[in-house]
Amino acid sequence: MQPKVNIMHLPVYQPGKPIEDVKRELGLDEVIKLASNENPIGYSPKAREAMLDEIDQLNIYPDGASVELTAVLAKRLGVQENQIIFGTGSSDIILMICRAYLTAEDETVMANETFSQYKHNCEIENAKIVEVPLKDGRHDLDAMLAAVTDRTKVVWICNPNNPTGTVVEHEQLVQFLEKMPKHVLVVLDEAYCEYVTADNFTDGVSLLPRFSNVVILRTFSKVYGLAANRIGYGIGEASVIRTINQVREPFNTGRLAQVAAKASLLDDEFLARSVAANSAGLDYLHSAFDRLGLQYFKGHGNFILVDVRTPSKQIFDLLLRKGIIIRAGWKHYPTWIRVSVGTEQENIKFVRELEEVLTELAVLH
Ligand SMILES: Cc1ncc(COP(=O)(O)O)c(C=O)c1O
Repeated sequence: MQPKVNIMHLPVYQPGKPIEDVKRELGLDEVIKLASNENPIGYSPKAREAMLDEIDQLNIYPDGASVELTAVLAKRLGVQENQIIFGTGSSDIILMICRAYLTAEDETVMANETFSQYKHNCEIENAKIVEVPLKDGRHDLDAMLAAVTDRTKVVWICNPNNPTGTVVEHEQLVQFLEKMPKHVLVVLDEAYCEYVTADNFTDGVSLLPRFSNVVILRTFSKVYGLAANRIGYGIGEASVIRTINQVREPFNTGRLAQVAAKASLLDDEFLARSVAANSAGLDYLHSAFDRLGLQYFKGHGNFILVDVRTPSKQIFDLLLRKGIIIRAGWKHYPTWIRVSVGTEQENIKFVRELEEVLTELAVLH
């Protein structure tokens, strides 16, 4: 059997190490996972109630078009219902965009260190991938524009960018979109946007009336804490959403995911609590890195990329032995680790153990 040649080199996605595996392998009672940018305080109690109410309906297929959820979300965002599409996480929307728009004749432009699933799915479609180096951890919008050709179909902007946590500022984003040729679809991945408190950050939805070639990706996996439920969405001009819908699997969001997402959208208290806890966690980690003299990119999502001046895989292993799972192995940041904001206790434990590890390695004096 011969698979498609262009997928033969692709790695299988490596998620953050599961807590239970680490506990078993290392014989540890307590393990904390700060590796997958999850919400450490859980998810909305209203979502829990909604899922329990729905639990006896699992023999019946879900609403394939997520009608009720779409109505609630459209109202909240101030867009039309036909401007929204749901996916099995926003990863599913990334996959659908590639499936709908890219062929081997096409080019696609992305940063050289960004969410891995853009490149992965573009490679599956055999499109030519043009990677533009980040500049100080930020998207280099001028260089990305310069990389666009007549054959470019899709440009990816991750805002805030995973793994660097940096944001694209309002004026720069608008100028970039103004200059972008209209045959190019610009994907603005805003998986972490609800966390952003910076004044110069623009919610992509507000740009949609001006730029019909933009599609925005969001998810319930991050601030809403529903990562296990696998539900995310795309917002764009109706014709773009229709195109993406043409390649959507019929029942790509489950019943529990739909009701939990709908209840979460109506729970502002949980959202505010999550954002406040995250801001406090970011502040704590930023000042700890300052105190330790470590360079980092100021995080705008729920994670920070920090330079530990040691091969990151080594720090990963040393922290793992202490029961802390972080993320390492960034090609262009070989000595940097990405840590997700945890609970207050988790953040304190992480800093204590990191300090100990780096002191033992004589990175800190
Ligand atoms: C930037 C970005 N986009 C999209 C996703 C996918 O999230 P999900 O498929 O859980 O919605 C992630 C997950 O980590 C991410 O970091």
